[in-house]
Amino acid sequence: MSCMNTGKSKSIPVRKQPFNRDWQFCSGDTAGVSWHKLNLPHDWSIEGEFNKDHPATFSGGALPGGIGYYKKEFNVPSGYAGKQVYIEFDGVYMNSEVYLNGKLLGRRPNGYIGFEYNLTPYLNVGAGNTLTVKVDNSQQPNSRWYSGSGIYRNVWLTVTGKVHVKHWGTYVTTPKVSKDQSDVHAEVEVINNRAEDRKGVVRTIVLFKGEKVSEKEQTVTLKAGNTHLVTDDHTVKNPQLWSVETPALYTLETEIYVDDRLVDRHRTPFGIRSFDFDTDKGFILNGRQLKIRGVCNHHDLGALGTAVNTRALERQLEILRGMGVNAIRTAHNPPAPELLELCDKMGFLVMDEVFDMWEKGKSRYDYSLYWDEWHRQDLIDFIKRDRNHPSVFIWSIGNEIPEQWEERGAETGRELSKIVRRLDDTRPVTAGMNPPIHTNNKDVTLQFDEPATPNALAGSGALDLIGYNYAHRTYLQHQINFPETPFIATETTSALATRGYYDQRSDTVKRWPYRWDQLFLDGNPDNTVSAYDQVSAPWGSTHEETWKIIKKHDFLSGMFIWTGFDYLGEPTPYVWPSRSSYFGVIDLAGFPKDAYYMYKSEWTDETVLHIFPHWNWEPGREVDIWAYYNNADEVELYLNGRSLGKRSKKGDDLHVMWRVPFNPGTLKAVSRKDGRDVLVKEIKTAGTAAQIQLEADRNTISADSKDLSFVTVSIADTTGNFVPTATNRIEFEISGPGKIVGVDNGDPTSHESFKAKNRKAFYGKCLVIVQSAGTAGEIQLTAKSKGLKPQKLVINTTRNRNEKD
Ligand code: GAL
Repeated sequence: MSCMNTGKSKSIPVRKQPFNRDWQFCSGDTAGVSWHKLNLPHDWSIEGEFNKDHPATFSGGALPGGIGYYKKEFNVPSGYAGKQVYIEFDGVYMNSEVYLNGKLLGRRPNGYIGFEYNLTPYLNVGAGNTLTVKVDNSQQPNSRWYSGSGIYRNVWLTVTGKVHVKHWGTYVTTPKVSKDQSDVHAEVEVINNRAEDRKGVVRTIVLFKGEKVSEKEQTVTLKAGNTHLVTDDHTVKNPQLWSVETPALYTLETEIYVDDRLVDRHRTPFGIRSFDFDTDKGFILNGRQLKIRGVCNHHDLGALGTAVNTRALERQLEILRGMGVNAIRTAHNPPAPELLELCDKMGFLVMDEVFDMWEKGKSRYDYSLYWDEWHRQDLIDFIKRDRNHPSVFIWSIGNEIPEQWEERGAETGRELSKIVRRLDDTRPVTAGMNPPIHTNNKDVTLQFDEPATPNALAGSGALDLIGYNYAHRTYLQHQINFPETPFIATETTSALATRGYYDQRSDTVKRWPYRWDQLFLDGNPDNTVSAYDQVSAPWGSTHEETWKIIKKHDFLSGMFIWTGFDYLGEPTPYVWPSRSSYFGVIDLAGFPKDAYYMYKSEWTDETVLHIFPHWNWEPGREVDIWAYYNNADEVELYLNGRSLGKRSKKGDDLHVMWRVPFNPGTLKAVSRKDGRDVLVKEIKTAGTAAQIQLEADRNTISADSKDLSFVTVSIADTTGNFVPTATNRIEFEISGPGKIVGVDNGDPTSHESFKAKNRKAFYGKCLVIVQSAGTAGEIQLTAKSKGLKPQKLVINTTRNRNEKD
């Protein structure tokens, strides 16, 4: 039978739809008493108050956990009779139990993995149904960072016929890649839930930009109640290769026909690219050497908590792209599917990481409690879920696993990598080890003749790539220690900074805290950390120290900075009242710290001249002025028109510096190449705060109840100069089809609510996040503060034709 030319209609209903609207929620303390309506995704912890006594502790963000119940009542049309209906949760933190009409569908302890349940057996077709989800995040601490609580990722309803492509049932690989021609191998799992065998036609089609590139079909006998693996091999002529610059995406479309009728259509985006890790040349993508310029990120979205929002993720990636980042490490857990979709589309490489611990725990109630029962299933689901994403190029089976030093670490490593390779052998397996060799010598220098003994995991043969967390002083010995296995710096740096705050002098490097296991009492009394790149954790290194080494040696394939963005929890070097991290190159509100521009000057082709700090100091105070620059031979600095001299980077320098006694006025920097001005930057001494400035990242957004406009609020003096020390409290008012969904200022010590309608400025800035409603129109945002000239901003919302929910 052939259905190639079938005249029958090919239209079938959309198989997977969002199922996020019109849920009800009640917190465990009032179970069943006070339900209130909401839409998912939802993180109840972010709405709570900071308190040092919350069991999550300041390391977990000092916000409440607890138990929550979700309920959704929905009608199932009678047309669903004979259909298969599934529900998919992209992630619930944590310990979820899902019930349909009172029947338990399943429990899932892991807070990050997605899972699907078959609703069909308990569904009232043509009638009302109730789905109930219990979420238990009461046993804390269970995380070393802020986890969030609730159904914080998307929920989907999938409706299919009885014969259909299984959940995560496609696998697309590209065994041979060249510019002239590439091979595409497709594996499709087809399930027949009928009581009788059926003959089916399975057709796989490769599409590029909606155009058919290749098509194959085969007739198969689908046995009743069985799953069948169908494979096809396609050839793509002159393929557009996926790369970080041109992330070309193809789609594998699978169609299943039974009795000449189209019964299922399923789409799998994929990319065609080849890559390799070389022991000498590092990382090679499509035949070209590429340094991996990565960041580690946790999953929270600052003021939005962990409730996933595609625009918030996209904004993070845009900001990172501006700094030259080309890779993300999903520290230390399966990410939201939307993050991988964005990385596929925007051209970011992803080191996809699954676990922060195995059998040995790191905090009292963490995943180690569920390890024995669940790790196989969670790992299998993780690989099946993510293995078609072209962005994913490394699997990490764990971060700083305590067992890495023992034989059982080697055994588990082998067990996990075997599972991974069985499901996907197209990507290398690694782990973030600390370090992969045995060393007691912190100052281990760069010259050894003898190989050091590997830790048990590194020596187990389980890993294709040797992953280093920190220990940058041992990098240069890598090729002696592991001559056969390529290198990746899975985690680096752990430099610390508060945006906008500077300690003089800038040229002394501090390692804060002194030790990871001891309380640190010698920091700044207000829990600030200098934003000159002069402070790092003792296990880490400053931004410049790290990049200088990675840059120099080809075999060092690349690095993942700890971290791109600040995150809630882990406020090293401090404890409470701090409640969020200092590690980010970008603060929690999304404002870059100064080191961002060092990377930009090195990692992008854009011309950079960034001078800092601000120019508001006490008269006579000696202040260090740094400049990051590129595409120029020198920078000349002027104070009130008088030259303070020219400076040029020498050797492997990454910045230049002047030490200048403060006098109010204008600092001007000019970068020059071959005697011609390239860029000019000025910083002026600001007067007292007098006005508010508002700048939206986007002035027009979709009227889809999800899209966001991130509005930066800056305080300025009467002439419009930024006031770098301003702390004025700004009140927000909003009218029109939108609402305020978060406020922040990047201060790691603030205990103000992210959900308030006001925020104090922190070093001159704060952020307000506006979300569209479902109707198009004009949102008016007003910002006011006592003694300051108010400001208004208009955000337009338009109907989005691609709207899905
Ligand atoms: C690493 C760890 C990260 C984070 C970081 C802070 O050792 O893998 O999760 O804790 O230290 O410096």
